[in-house]
Formats: sequence, C-alpha cells, structure tokens
Amino acid sequence: MPHNDWIAILDFGSQYSQLIARRVREQNVYSELMRFDTAAAVLRERKPAGIILSGGPSSVFAAGAPQADPAIFGLGIPVLGICYGQQLMAHLLGGKVKPGQAREYGSATIEIVKPEALFRGLPAQLDVWMSHGDQVESLPTGFQTLARTPTCPVASMGDSKRRLYGLQFHPEVVHTPRGVEVLRHFVFDVCGCKGEWEMGRFIEESVAAWRKRIGGGQVVCGLSGGVDSSVVAALLHKAIGPQLHCIFVDNGLLRANEAEQVEATFGHALGVNLTVARAGARFLDALRGVEEPEQKRKIIGRVFIEVFAEEARKLGNARFLAQGTLYPDVIESVSPLGGPSATIKSHHNVGGLPPDLKFELVEPLRELFKDEVRRLGRELGLPDFVVQRQPFPGPGLAVRILGAVTAERVALLQAADARVQEEMLTWDGYARVWQSFAVLLPIQSVGVMGDCRTYENVAALRVVESQDGMTADWTRVPYDLLARISNRIINEVRGINRVVFDISSKPPSTIEWE
Ligand code: XMP
Repeated sequence: MPHNDWIAILDFGSQYSQLIARRVREQNVYSELMRFDTAAAVLRERKPAGIILSGGPSSVFAAGAPQADPAIFGLGIPVLGICYGQQLMAHLLGGKVKPGQAREYGSATIEIVKPEALFRGLPAQLDVWMSHGDQVESLPTGFQTLARTPTCPVASMGDSKRRLYGLQFHPEVVHTPRGVEVLRHFVFDVCGCKGEWEMGRFIEESVAAWRKRIGGGQVVCGLSGGVDSSVVAALLHKAIGPQLHCIFVDNGLLRANEAEQVEATFGHALGVNLTVARAGARFLDALRGVEEPEQKRKIIGRVFIEVFAEEARKLGNARFLAQGTLYPDVIESVSPLGGPSATIKSHHNVGGLPPDLKFELVEPLRELFKDEVRRLGRELGLPDFVVQRQPFPGPGLAVRILGAVTAERVALLQAADARVQEEMLTWDGYARVWQSFAVLLPIQSVGVMGDCRTYENVAALRVVESQDGMTADWTRVPYDLLARISNRIINEVRGINRVVFDISSKPPSTIEWE
C-alpha cells in the first residue's frame, strides 16, 4: 500500500487473527497481518496509521512466548492489544499480568468505566466474548481502566496520551455484537483512518503497479473458469491487454456448458487472448479403466501439466506466470504457530511445470480474501455466474463419477448435474449453499417406467454449507425442491432411474465423494 491509511496487525497466532484483518477491511481500511516480531523500524518505514496486536494461544509467562518489539510502543503510532495483545502490552510496559487459575471462555458482560474513545456512544453494559487464561492485574503507568467485569478487573485499558489501548475480550467475533463499533472507534477516531480502501481504488493501483512490473513482458495465465483465475485474468487484461495469454485446458470433465461459458466470457466478451486446449479425449484415454480415486487425481494432474506446458511453449517467450494465490494462502506462514521455518505456500494449480518453463510469478490477488476477490470481479465487470461460482475440484467430474470414467458416464453426470444447478438456482436459500452437485454411483438399481422394468444408474445429490470447505454440513433442502430435482433427473435423463440425497457432514465424510 503506497499510502499510510492502513492498519498493521501483528499476529500472535490467534484463530481470530484473519478475522481482525477482515473486520478492518470491511470498514474500507486496508489491513495486513504481519509477523508478531516485526521490528519497530519496519513499521516506522511502512507507516501504518495504527497497529493491532492479535490474541494468541500463549501465556506471556510461557517459555518462548511470542514477544513484540517493545519499541513499537514508542513510535507514536496508536496500538490496540486484543486479549494476549493486551496482556503483552501490559507486561512489556511495566504492568502486572496474573497467571490464569481457570480459563474464562464464553459470553460475559462488561461494565464500561470510561465511556470515551473506544466505547463512545456505547451502552454502559456491553456483551462481549472472552477467551483467556491470564489477565491484567495492575496497569502500566499512564493507563486507566476503561471497562471491567466482576472477575476481570481490566476488561479494557487505555493511555489516551500515548494512544495505547487494550481489550481483554474479542471485538472481532460475532459473539461481541457491538465489537465492530469498538474497532471502528480505534480505526477511525484513534488512528484517524479515512476509510478510502475500495475495490475501485485497488483496481487502479494494482493495474498501475503490474503494468510497471511487467513492462513489455508476456504473461501466461491458466484459466480454469473458477473465480480466482477469472478475476486474475480480468485484472491483468485491464492492465496489459494483449500481453496476457490465457490457457484454458478443457479436460472434458467440466460441468455442462462450462467450457463454452469460459470461451464466451473471456474470449468473446472481454477479448482476452485465449487458447482453449480441447484435451477431453486425452484425459479420458489416460483414465481408461482407472477406478481408484487417488490414481485418477494423479493422472489428471499429470496430463494437465503436460497439456498446459505444451500450450505455454507454443506461446514462446513468456516471462511471467499469473496465479490466483489468495491472502489466506500467504498468511498461514506468519503466525508463530507456523514456526519460523514455515515457508510461504503458493497455490500450485500450475505447479510442477517442467524445468524448461521458468516463470516469474504474478499474483495480483495475494492481498485479498475470497469475498474481496468476488467484489473485485464484480467491479471488473465479470458476470454473476463467474463471480458467484461454486468451488469445483481440479479433477472435475472424474471424482464425482465413482468407478471408471467414460465419455458416456461424463455425459450422464453432466445432464443430471445441470438439472441440479437449474433447480438450486430457483431456491431463495441458495446463498447459503457452498456446493450443490450430483454424483454418479457405480451401481444400478431396478425401477419401473411405464410397464417396463428398468435397471439403471443411481445419482446422489450432494448439497452442503461451509465457510471454507474444511468442515461442512449437509443443507436442509426443502422437500419440494428435492422432489423437483429428483423428478427432473429421473424423467429427463435417460439412464438414471433413482436419486438419493447425501446426509453426511464433514468430518467424517468429505464434500466430494472421491
Ligand atoms: P473435500 O472433498 O476434501 O473437499 O471435502 C473440500 C473442498 O475442496 C474441493 N476440492 C478440490 N479443489 N482441487 C481443487 O481445486 C482438488 O483436487 C479438489 N478436491 C476437492 C471440494 O470441491 C471442496 O470444495
């Protein structure tokens, strides 16, 4: 960020650190997670408007507990310590922290003692979320108690002269209903942020920066049709136009009409240089007779790299490779829990390229969360069906066709899946859905159609809700909608005579069946 209207968040390993970053960004203020031990000199150089010390799982008394550079408190930049951050601030500035006897975890009501600064305009009693063992017992010089509970004498503290504040509770979680207002007071009133970080501005700055960085070079971009690569392509197209070359590998394992949609959206509507490698037959050949899920995945990964590399070589002298790496992929490594040796993880959608293809990486979404990528895509004019697209596994329908993959079975699943999508889109609960799709089972069952006995395939319907794909629950889809989906598949898709609904959550099941 070229200007200083941003908040640095020093990450002490709390499960909520990313959430703090998101909450700040939701106020249109850029924020960035940084290592907990970032030197004061680095912060002086980068000039954030404020610093937040996140919570963390440690006790300040534990051996090897993550420490902040004490000089950050003397930079003249406002600091807000949250939970462990408050304890550390108190500890480093000469206050006293008491080792916790018992962990306090859950809802609490704090009494606001000084209804100013962080708590201006808020009621005298505030419901908050606590999760801590240690707590501050006596304040460092210059600090006052701003809020307390009967068991936690310093639920919040502050030194308004030095603009240093602490909260024992978590303002970033939804269980602190007015927590965002507390954060806003810090970000706007204390730090003086203007809240001008918007996607429009991000596009402008990003386009200018990448134009400069790429110069006259050529960029290759693997376009999958998913949200991330689509937004990368749209953004770089805006920045460098014809110097961008997208390669779309049609592996023949995509959802119905997806290949055509990608071609129409990027090739025709946006005018991006687009190579479509129609490699469906090659993938099916390589998959012939293979039933074991891991083997399927490996084969598809290998053939993808082969096809992509061939197309990239044809483009000649490209110097850069664009990837849709997102912020959560990058920041995993900064938390103290990640350990000092943890290296930054990059998306390897096009990882493992042969050695003759050496690219410099272009990762324009490295600073963004998924919902921000969607906003960016919208701002760039991408259609809703691209921006809202559900996650789709790299190996595609091959991991939704249990058993051997053939052209006929791909077509059968595409037809059933298309009915699922059409009907799901009519439901007003669709926004809650993470993924909805059909799976083709490797069994046949007996049915009756007219007066005839049938012996045909079974399709399973999978509809799940999830925040990040790590855990998921099956969606309570209304019976009427289930009935419509089932009727349409059985009546309209020849070859399927039974539909079952998957009611397993993750864990212990996974979202995909293979
Ligand atoms: P599972 O089935 O492991 O899936 O619960 C979790 C999420 O990841 C997606 N998924 C993949 N995404 N390449 C991807 O890019 C893959 O090989 C892959 N396998 C699963 C899945 O659709 C779900 O959203």
